[in-house]
This record gives sequence, structure tokens and C-alpha cells, in this order.
Amino acid sequence: MKVTRVRALFVLTLLLISSSVFAKSSLSVTNLRTEYKQNPIGIDVTAPRFSWEILSDKQNTMQTQYEIRCALASKDLSKRDKNIYHVVVNTDQSVHVEYIGIPLKSRQRVYWQVRIKDNYNRTSKWSKPGFFEMALLSEADWKASWVETDIQEDTTLSNPAHFLRKEFKLEKSVRKARLYITSHGLYQSYINSKNVTEQVLTPGWTTYKKRLQYQIYDVTKLLSKGSNAIGIALGDGWYRGNMMWKDNRNLYGTTLATLAQLEVEYTDGSKEIIVTDGSWKSSNEGPILKSDIYNGEAYDARKEMEGWASIGFNASKWKGVKVKDYSKSNLVAPVGPPVMRVEEIKPIGITPKENGKYIVDMGQNMVGWIRLKVKGSAGTTVQLKHVEVLDKYGEIYTTNLRTADQLITYTCKGEGEEIYEPHFTFQGFRFVEVSGYPGELTTESLTGVVVHSDMTPTGTFVCSDSLLNQLQHNIKWGLKGNFVDVPTDCPQRDERLGWTGDAQVFAPTACFIMDAASFYTKWLKDLAADQNKNGKVGDVIPNAMGPDAGGHTGWADAALVVPWTVYLNYGDKRILEEQYESMKAWVDYMREHSKESMNEHLDEDFLWKYEWHYGDWLSYDVSNPSYMGAYTAVDLIATAYFAYSTDLLARSANILGKKDDVTKYSQLYNQVKKAFQNEYITANGRLVSDTQTAYVLALSFGLFPESMLKVAEFNFGYSVNMFKHITTGFLGTPRICQTLSDHGMLESAYMLLNRKEYPSWLYPVTMGATTIWERWDGQKPDSTFQDPGMNSFNHYAYGAIGKWMYSTVAGIDVDEKNPGYKNIIIAPQPGGGLTKAKASINTIYGKASTGWVLEEDVLTLNIIIPPNTTAKMILPTDKIENVTVKGKALQKVKGFEVVDCECEKVVVKVGSGEYELRVVQ
Ligand code: BGC
Repeated sequence: MKVTRVRALFVLTLLLISSSVFAKSSLSVTNLRTEYKQNPIGIDVTAPRFSWEILSDKQNTMQTQYEIRCALASKDLSKRDKNIYHVVVNTDQSVHVEYIGIPLKSRQRVYWQVRIKDNYNRTSKWSKPGFFEMALLSEADWKASWVETDIQEDTTLSNPAHFLRKEFKLEKSVRKARLYITSHGLYQSYINSKNVTEQVLTPGWTTYKKRLQYQIYDVTKLLSKGSNAIGIALGDGWYRGNMMWKDNRNLYGTTLATLAQLEVEYTDGSKEIIVTDGSWKSSNEGPILKSDIYNGEAYDARKEMEGWASIGFNASKWKGVKVKDYSKSNLVAPVGPPVMRVEEIKPIGITPKENGKYIVDMGQNMVGWIRLKVKGSAGTTVQLKHVEVLDKYGEIYTTNLRTADQLITYTCKGEGEEIYEPHFTFQGFRFVEVSGYPGELTTESLTGVVVHSDMTPTGTFVCSDSLLNQLQHNIKWGLKGNFVDVPTDCPQRDERLGWTGDAQVFAPTACFIMDAASFYTKWLKDLAADQNKNGKVGDVIPNAMGPDAGGHTGWADAALVVPWTVYLNYGDKRILEEQYESMKAWVDYMREHSKESMNEHLDEDFLWKYEWHYGDWLSYDVSNPSYMGAYTAVDLIATAYFAYSTDLLARSANILGKKDDVTKYSQLYNQVKKAFQNEYITANGRLVSDTQTAYVLALSFGLFPESMLKVAEFNFGYSVNMFKHITTGFLGTPRICQTLSDHGMLESAYMLLNRKEYPSWLYPVTMGATTIWERWDGQKPDSTFQDPGMNSFNHYAYGAIGKWMYSTVAGIDVDEKNPGYKNIIIAPQPGGGLTKAKASINTIYGKASTGWVLEEDVLTLNIIIPPNTTAKMILPTDKIENVTVKGKALQKVKGFEVVDCECEKVVVKVGSGEYELRVVQ
């Protein structure tokens, strides 16, 4: 009896021990994404790609196998015979795994889940199911007709918004309902008076004639058996509002229109479809008197039409609609993230002014709009004028907005507290001048609604210098404000265009801060769609300037640089495949025109001297003749970019296995490089434009012959240290610190980063900037302003320094040979007086981070490498004996593979896990 009890206890203890071991030893799969999104509704990619993250409690975890199963219902996932796709593959691939099962059909929802094996021979449980739902894959799926109001308008002016409505009856209980909808102009849609979505500024901005997005909404909960109503409001937006500077309207057409299809499935499986057609009613007599991207909105609440999107509304005075046969072949499901109200901020100060006016400080230069709370008698009009800065007298500064009004006018209906948000506009502002507000304006009256493309934030950066932390903050807010479906130059003046140059220099930084993959994927499709047949790429995308505009160096090269950046950061080969023809066409265009030398005595010279270029836009320019400016010859820049883009094309061809093109473009690259050397490098290794930008481009694009590198580095360093500041513009600035640190001039890079006087990144910070400025001296120390013709206070281009802060100061970067953070480069380069820095990034594999603290001469590094990835650590010491891991010599610690000790730094390879290293400096 006693023996039995002891044995039972022993068995129980064993069980407890083994179960606790088991509980500790875990491997699981999480964060399932399809085409970068969690459970997307409405995609038209016919071979969607799956990605997942792995969680493991063991270091050095690698996936060795995945098993994916797909079914049309989540309950069928576990039934093998009901799986529409089931694969087991021995591989470490856990991102961008293509669905290659039976062809997918329109509207089909597919559930999927995955389980994996790892290198410890563990098998995870099946992940929680994810799903994706297909959009409408064929034009024939559209049963709806385009409709527009039957109203005469003077389209040379801003007009009232249009409203369209329809009532309908649903005979049975609804199991599922989807609304497929788009418009010419912007739309908001309501079912039974409820907004169908949190998305705003739909259908977004694309090159409408060739690619018009429609959205897909799950509206099941908004419908019920019996009578229902649907309403759609339309505003001018990018389609026909004021765009591209002053008084330019109707870029894509003069009339607003909508196309909507509401598909209902009843609980008994039968279906119903409600479409836009000739039976709809329309009106333009509602409260939105005018709305415009640049100019704002005028809203008269007295004209609200209570219940216009509900049943029983008296629409007897409404007009009919005209049915139109506008194209449906241009319709595409959204690729990028939707534009949303992402966050809200409250004012930090209110200053009363004369005539009952107030100036409200939101504390942050932001993009979006104000939600206004007001209680006034009917007819009371409140005006909100939005500006970015105040002048030295504390008054609003409007001149840099050029002709953009950024004005909201709200007229009260006089029925107690009224709450209003604009519908078809957005403003870029920190300060709001409020006039006509009845009663006392308090911080309760105004809320800043921050609007942008709803990308997942991925990066964080923090270091021991609060000014540099503020700089990163400003970079992030520059990104937020300028990622409004299109990557724009600025969000406030009469511009707000998808400038390609700005986009390409900032893309590497953006990919640290946010998951920008699908955002750029969408924009690049527009870039290709708008590309001239001859290969020319627009200055702005969507190319509102017309097919002949563009072709400018450093701008058009976005066609190569942006897909390459997405490939590097997300390991996305498909973007190279899809953009390849566009990439090639731009390089071929340069090749073609490099034959057209300005010098008729020369044959094809591989120099890109054709056409006018922006060059190193906004580079250091002085009016004082005794101080040097920094003009870099544009053909030197253009030829450098010609080489760089050709090189990227050859590398892309290699990745895609296009052997002939690898040969062709590698050869072309060598020819351009040679031509560059002959034309722009003197026999002694100086560039004919002896500027920082010239050296930055030539060095970072690898254009110097090896034998001249030292001389070139010297000349470059000389220029930086002589000026002691940047003299670079749009093309030189983004790469200057990287080029300095890559060429052994880390301290000079830190000197530039730390500088607080104009011109520098920190000068605006010391002036209280909360976003990145377009000009180094947008506002001068005496509070006067730069040329108002071009003086945005929210221009992300110079924020491109952000990448260097992540990759070199904190020390985390992608590895071109194993892109998408499959292998992570950890290479912190402390300096500049900083005592600590830390950066993290939620890579497509999971969270990676690196942080260092410098105390006396000991550098403590804390590093996280996600499962199924590896890291190459390049440590800031040349002596391996200086490195310990938890007190043990590095060489003796399991898992660390020393791969190189000969160069000036210790290089080790490790697998996933968390590490703490000490490096004695
Ligand atoms: C924009 C820039 C753009 C430039 C072209 C400006 O008006 O704001 O950021 O790249 O024009 O040089």
C-alpha cells in the first residue's frame, strides 16, 4: 500500500515535471497575413501569398517544414476531403508563400491555417485560421451601372456635393451582404443612415482612367429583413476638384458618378442584388455646399436632409439619375491600406485674439481635420482656417499655403450641441484660427482627427539625445501626413502630389517606420500605368501632369528604387516581377537618350545629358558671394543615377533569373560607369563638380575606380569638414551620412547629425518643428520665413536620414543577400557623444531589435532576432577577446559562429533568440 502511494507520487511528480517542461517548450504560429493583410476582404490577386510569424521559446529556431490547408469554411479545415488546397513542403520559407491551388473565384472566401516543424523536430499546433476573400475578378461580375445626378452645374467652380439614394426590400433574413462601390470623385456611403465604413477619402487616388479602386465592405449587420435604404454622397476630390496648383480643375472629368452593387445572401442560400441603375434618385441640395482637397469645405447644417439615407424619406423633390456607360475595365480592388482616422489629438493651447477670434495650437503639425463641437443659434457661422506656423507676431502665416484655402466654414442649425467633421477634404496644419465661435472656445470644442493610410507601425527609435528623438518623431509625422493613399510631397499647399523624387529618397526610411509594402505596391502600379510608352516616368504619380511630363533624373528613377526598396525590406520578389517591364522601360529610355549627346562631335557616349533636370533640388545656395554654394552639374547627377538604376535593373534581372538581361544591363552599367569616370572624374580623382552631393552619389553608387577611392574619400571628407555642414539637396542629403560612415568617416557623419545651426536636421528641431521641413531654413532664427513659393513645413524628403539612424546609430538593417530581414544585419556604430540608442522593427518575420548602452568603455548590446531568421552581427571592435556573452568569452558560447575577424570588426552569425553582449571598446 505504502509502496503504491510512493510510486503514484513519483509518477505524478514526473508528470508534473514533464508537463511543465512541455509547457515551456513551445512552438507556435501567429499573425497570419494574406498579401500583407490580416483577413483581407476583397483582393483580386489570383495567387495570393501567405505569411506567418513563428513564436518559439528556443534560441536558433528555424522552420524546416510548413503544412498549409485551405477550405471554403473554417469548419472544413480539419476535413482533408474538404480542403481545396493542402500542401506540405520542407522549407524554411514562412513569408510570401503562394497559394497555387484550384483557381479562385470572385467573392470566394478561403480559410487557411498553417502548422510548422522546426529544426528541433517539434511540430506546432495548427495556427488559428485566417481568411481572405476574393473581390470581383471579372468585368462581367458588375451588374450595376454607372449613374450620375441629373443636375446642371458650372464645373469651372466648386459645386455642392451630390446625394444619391434608393430604397429596397429584402424578403428574407440576411446571412451575408457585401457592398462593392466606387465613384468618380470621392464617396461616402450609408445604409439605413449608418456609415458603411470607417474608411475615408474613398475610393482613394489612382490613375483613374486606367486604375480605379472599388472598395468591398461587409455590410451584413447594417441590413435587415424588410425595407432598407442606401445613400451615397459624392464630393469633387482629386477627380474634379482643384488640383495641381491654382484654378486647375476637372483633371479626370467634369461629372461625379458612382457605381455600387449590394449583394445579399439570404439564410436560405438564395441571393439578391441591388445595383445603381436608373431607379435611383439624386439631389445636390444638401448641407455640403462645396468641398475641395486644397480649399476645404463649406457646410450648412440647416440644409441637412434628416434621414436621406433611411427609408421613408420624402424624396419627391429629388431628381432622377442618368445611367452612363463609363468604363468598368479599369476597376481594381484595393492593394494598399485604406485611409482612416488613425488617431486623435487635443489642442495644447488656445489664444484669444481680436474680434472674437482664437488661435488654437494642436501641438503637432498634423494632417486630417478638426472635429468641431459647437452650440449656436441657427445661421451662426464658424470658420476654421488651418495653417502650419505662426509668424513672429503670433499671427497665422498663410502665405506658404499659396492658393490653398484650407478653410472650413460651418453654419449651425441651432439645435443644441452640433458635432461636425468635414467629408471630402483634408488639411495640413498645427494651428487653427477659429472665428465666429459662439460662446467660449475650449479644448473640448476641437479635436484633431489624424488621417492617413492605415499602415501598421513597425519601427521605434530612441537614443540618449532628446533632440534626435524629436527628429525621429518629426520624420514619423512627416510620413503620416504624406501617406494619404499616395506618397505626397506635402499635405498643405496647392500641391499635395505624388512626387517621385521625394518618394524614392524617403522609401527606405518609410519601410523602417511602417509596414509600407502594400502602400508602395499600389502606388507602383500607378507609376507603371502612367508611364509613357517611350519609358518616361512622371514627376508625379498619379501623373496629373500628362504623359509627356517627367523623365527627370532622381525622380523618374523611383521606378527602380522603390520596387528595389520594397524587395529589400520585405523580401518581395513579386514586386520586382510585376514592375520589371516598367523598370526596364525607364532604363531603356535613358539608354536611348544617352545617344543624344549635346555635343554633335561625339557618338553614343552613355552620358545622360538629355533634357532639363531638377538636379540636387534645393541644395545649399548662398547669396553671399564670399561663401560657397554647392551646385552639382545636373548631367553628372543624371549619369550617376543612370548607372545606379541600370545596376538595380541588372540585380533585379539576376534575382528573377533573366539571364540575357543580366548580361545586357551589367554591360550597360559598366559602360555608363566608364563614361562617368571619363567625363566627371579628373585624372587625380576629383569630381568636376567638387560638391558633397557629387561625392555622395559617385561613392554610394560605386562609380569610382578602386584606385581612386582613397582620394575621393579624402575630397569628400574635406568638403564636409571644411563647411562643417551639409551643402546637399534632395538627392545628396538622403545618402550623405550613410556614405560617410560606409567610407570610414563616422565622426563626420555624427557631426552633421548633431549640428544644431542652419543648415542641419536639428536646426528645425531647435525651432520647435514637429515635422520635417522642405527647406533647411523654412523659418529663420529671427522668425522670418523662406521664400513662400516653396516653403512647406511638412515635407518628408529630408527625413530620409531616418534610415541611417536605425541602421547605423542603433544598428539594424536588411541584408541584400537575404532580404526581408531573413538575415538581419546588426551593426551599431556608436558615436557623436551618444550614450545609448535602441531601435526595433516588426519585420515580416516578427520583432527584431537592437539597443546599446555605453558606460565608460563598455558597450552593452541587447539584441532580439525573431525565429526563422538569422543575424550577422558586426561588432564595433576588432578584437574578439573584447566580446563576452553573459560573462563568457564569445568563442565559447554555443550558437555564435565567428565568421570574420580579419577585417577591422568582429563578425559573428547567430540564430534567433535574445542576446546580451558586452564589448570592451
Ligand atoms: C515639390 C517637391 C518636388 C519638386 C520638384 C516641389 O514643388 O514640393 O518636393 O520634388 O517640386 O522638384
